[in-house]
Amino acid sequence: MATKEYKTVLVEKEDGITWAILNRPEKRNAMNPQLHFDMYDVVTEAEGDPETQVLVITGAGNSWCAGMDLKEFFREGDKNPEFQRQVAWASQEWRWRKLFTFPKPTIAMVNGFCFGGAFSPMIACDFAIASEDALFGLSEVNWGILPGGLVSRVVTDVLSLRDGLYHAMTGDPFDGRKAAEMRLVNYAVPADQLRDETVKLAKKLMEKNPWALRATKQAYKLVRGMDYSQAEDYLAAKGAQIKIQDRESGYDEGIKQFIDDKTYKPGLGPMARVNKDS
Ligand code: COA
Repeated sequence: MATKEYKTVLVEKEDGITWAILNRPEKRNAMNPQLHFDMYDVVTEAEGDPETQVLVITGAGNSWCAGMDLKEFFREGDKNPEFQRQVAWASQEWRWRKLFTFPKPTIAMVNGFCFGGAFSPMIACDFAIASEDALFGLSEVNWGILPGGLVSRVVTDVLSLRDGLYHAMTGDPFDGRKAAEMRLVNYAVPADQLRDETVKLAKKLMEKNPWALRATKQAYKLVRGMDYSQAEDYLAAKGAQIKIQDRESGYDEGIKQFIDDKTYKPGLGPMARVNKDS
């Protein structure tokens, strides 16, 4: 179903999945200022949208995203630093801060080119699935800059020092298979299976209790920056938060279905969600 219209992003909603499709295919979905402002709005709206259970980010045409727009963000932006700062803020906000701890599962469905500044949102998503023939690259060094924004920092979260530095310093592109081998993406699949595999993962996530899922992703990501005592206390508080917020009473229900009803085994799959609309 089509929803609100944006100049540079198509938003489609179907069966709980919201598809945010970067839509400047003639520019390989390079991120110009308008796209940053649009994506800021798209992500903000999806946060509180009950129809959105899983957010998938993908690209129109043969590209996921060719990185920052060299003309509109860099060359023209350099002449208008005030505006460039506003754009940089919006860009960091959606590409990292909002997306990294987005309250619902996020999947980067990498259908083609993924360069430079596109690494931030790709890594911020909880999952990345690539087409085997997608083409990735930390291309900044090829044109005289470094992987900025947060790219150099967030790449170190997913790549080894050897792999990350190799690609940052050579700028060599690599395909989806190699990205999966280096664990930059969860897996790579043939192009004609990309959408089905993404939907399959989204459906699996939609079977889980959404409050437990939210707390799990946020906690898993945030404890990485904490010491052990902080993490222990934070995880206890986060666990308590689930019970307060969970309108499906997943904790009680999960124990009941296993111990009393004997209808599922937690080690092998999820309990049946009940009271979904309460
Ligand atoms: N910024 C601005 N414009 C871009 C762009 C970018 N990052 N990436 C592509 N475009 C534009 C091209 O300038 C071209 O515009 P034009 O039709 O007005 O000439 C159009 O998109 C198509 O690009 P083209 O290079 O002809 O497509 P291609 O399929 O042959 O190659 C890429 C695709 C992605 C390999 C190539 O466009 C590229 O190297 N882009 C830059 C990638 C990059 O280094 N990004 C990092 C930025 S942080």
